[in-house]
Amino acid sequence: MSTPAANTARKPFTVIGHRGAAGHAPENTLLSIDTAIRLGAHWIEIDIQHHAGELWLMHDLTLDRTTNGRGLLRAHSAAALRRLDAGRGEHIPTLPEALDLIEQRVSVNIELKSWDGCAAAVAACLREYLADGWAPERLQVSSFHLPELWEFKQLLPEVPLGVLYCGVPLDWAGLTAELGAQSLNISAEFVDARLVADAHARGRQLNVYTVNDPAALRLLYELGVDGVFSDFPDRALAAS
Ligand code: G3P
Ligand code: MG
Repeated sequence: MSTPAANTARKPFTVIGHRGAAGHAPENTLLSIDTAIRLGAHWIEIDIQHHAGELWLMHDLTLDRTTNGRGLLRAHSAAALRRLDAGRGEHIPTLPEALDLIEQRVSVNIELKSWDGCAAAVAACLREYLADGWAPERLQVSSFHLPELWEFKQLLPEVPLGVLYCGVPLDWAGLTAELGAQSLNISAEFVDARLVADAHARGRQLNVYTVNDPAALRLLYELGVDGVFSDFPDRALAAS
């Protein structure tokens, strides 16, 4: 990160609880989401994989790091996945379970992760929640897999998109515009004042992941970024 330009407007940034509040509770569990809401996060980010007819909240392709299971998630039946312990007795939730817990108390960033794609399944799920009264602006679907986002956009164009980058592609602006994405969600080490200004000049929000250090959070606030993903939403709230 370069030296920040002054954030003269001092508008608080949006605090996005990463995998819920992964610094305080087992990531991508209902407990983690509940903890993030209790801490005051404005948004919750969750990772989604489609397998065996369900949309699972799971970051890794394998179960080993976050559950008492072993091997690939996709090698297990839905019944077997439901029996696993995802930490502190929590189970691996599904997207409907997460949305039913959240009940629009906070907004939700749904990150598409699956190998085989999950755009169509997520669109089908969210279509039902929109029909039940969820406001599309309380949702954002994001992915590093931009063709997945393109597919999602064709299926459910009313839900805003976030383009995920771990770096700054030469044509980041063109790709973001082509998708009509609301925001550029980018890894913290690639953010500087020039990128913030460029994104804002192009009408895009800039959200930064994953930031847990108080000094880095403060620096990003001074730079004028729009939002931060943090495992510790309480720290992010304290920085702005
Ligand atoms: O969406 C922000 C961030 O979650 C992207 O990276 O690997 O933590 O899903 P990752
Ligand atoms: Mg994620």
